[in-house]
Amino acid sequence: MSLLPTATIAEIARHDGQTVTLAGWVAHKTEKGKLVFIRLRDGSGVIQCVVFKRNVNEEVFEAAQSLTLESACRVTGAVRADERAPGGYELDVNDIQVVHIGPEYPIQPKEHGVEFLMEHRHLWVRSAKQHALLRIRAEVIAAAQEWLNDQGFVRFDTPILTPVAAEGTSNLFATEYFDLGSAYLAQTGQLYVEAGMMSFGKVYCFGPTFRAEKSKTRRHLTEFWMIEPEVAFATHEDNMVLQEQFVSAIVRRCLERRSGELIVLERDTAPLDRCVPPFPRVTYDDAIALIAEKYAEVEGCTPLPWGEDLGAPHETLVASQYEKPVFVEKFPAAVKAFYMEPDPRRPEVALCADLLAPEGYGEIIGGSQRIHDADLLERRIREHGLNVDDYQWYLDLRRYGTVPHSGFGMGIERLTAWIAGTHHIRETIPFPRMLYRIYP
Ligand code: 4AD
Ligand code: MG
Repeated sequence: MSLLPTATIAEIARHDGQTVTLAGWVAHKTEKGKLVFIRLRDGSGVIQCVVFKRNVNEEVFEAAQSLTLESACRVTGAVRADERAPGGYELDVNDIQVVHIGPEYPIQPKEHGVEFLMEHRHLWVRSAKQHALLRIRAEVIAAAQEWLNDQGFVRFDTPILTPVAAEGTSNLFATEYFDLGSAYLAQTGQLYVEAGMMSFGKVYCFGPTFRAEKSKTRRHLTEFWMIEPEVAFATHEDNMVLQEQFVSAIVRRCLERRSGELIVLERDTAPLDRCVPPFPRVTYDDAIALIAEKYAEVEGCTPLPWGEDLGAPHETLVASQYEKPVFVEKFPAAVKAFYMEPDPRRPEVALCADLLAPEGYGEIIGGSQRIHDADLLERRIREHGLNVDDYQWYLDLRRYGTVPHSGFGMGIERLTAWIAGTHHIRETIPFPRMLYRIYP
């Protein structure tokens, strides 16, 4: 015997006129005399099931009346096209099998504070908006991987437990590693994916990354997912071209396949429609000049002395000047990671770029050309106060067949937040990890 449904709500149109069994949960229920209306969700969609007293026996009608919010059941009935129904179809019920009726569900159709909802995240993920958001996240991930695979990239998995830092030493999560001292949760897979790049030419890693950042902003998680492509022989310019193609392909796929979810989220899709290559490029220098001139336009924005990194209000101001994502390139080398190739014409700036999303969503990608000269890289490692012995394997990549190469890291949650138009990044991952939250 199987309890599986014979149809899913997403594909209900295929069953027009047939009798099917659906299985799912009660998203909403109303009663009107001889009628019970059950809004059933099965994970693939939502459909209105109509229980008419005259069409069912007494037990079935009582079963329908007994259902509470989020009760689980199997419902059998005839699929009927109905123009007024949200999905275009309704189910005329002739049988109901109750699977489980729980006590009063904690999340009711009313306003709950975000702290309450976060505390009930394990249940909140069932709600329509959260469901839509996380479906878009899954689409972003599938689109990103499939696009790279189609372009000839090979997935190359990198370790999460690592012996050294890659993106600064101030935000490392440390743990004891047997007799071998401290291990750190990976801030990035980049250093390792560079080894893969020397084997496969075009690679990417994809997985969770960790930053013990004491920031409480709407853009920061302590555990986030990053996809990091790396390409042999690619320059800084090639890197930006790859990024704009990559991002616009992902956005386009979400528009094509997740239009229903974008409607649930009431997302204005005009900014997404505009997301086509080429993206504008501004230098860090030009950004500084722009900020000096227009900082008053954004709350909390102040002029920035040359040599300091952009903060969130600066990113918002720069991005607001454009209708598409914008590259800010050639940052002062001193504010960026040790591995970035200096601009040969101006070694105080790095051949790097941050890609800023429109509408105040901030940096979605950080990337650069990498230093390919072993001596220069070793010097940089020392200048950053790191122990050269720990990086011998990474220096080896520059000793045996070294080539100019570039890559970048895209934060899945940052991109999802922009595409979905969700103010706070915490809702774009099933279980967010933040400075003040590790439950549930
Ligand atoms: O700019 P970041 O730190 O770059 C790197 O880690 C490079 N090693 C990537 C590479 O070149 N392979 O981080 C890259 C992206 C950011 O643009 C942002 O989208 C995301 O990762 N990110 C975060 N997302 C959520 N919470 C945080 N605390 C994040 N920190 C970075
Ligand atoms: Mg960055």
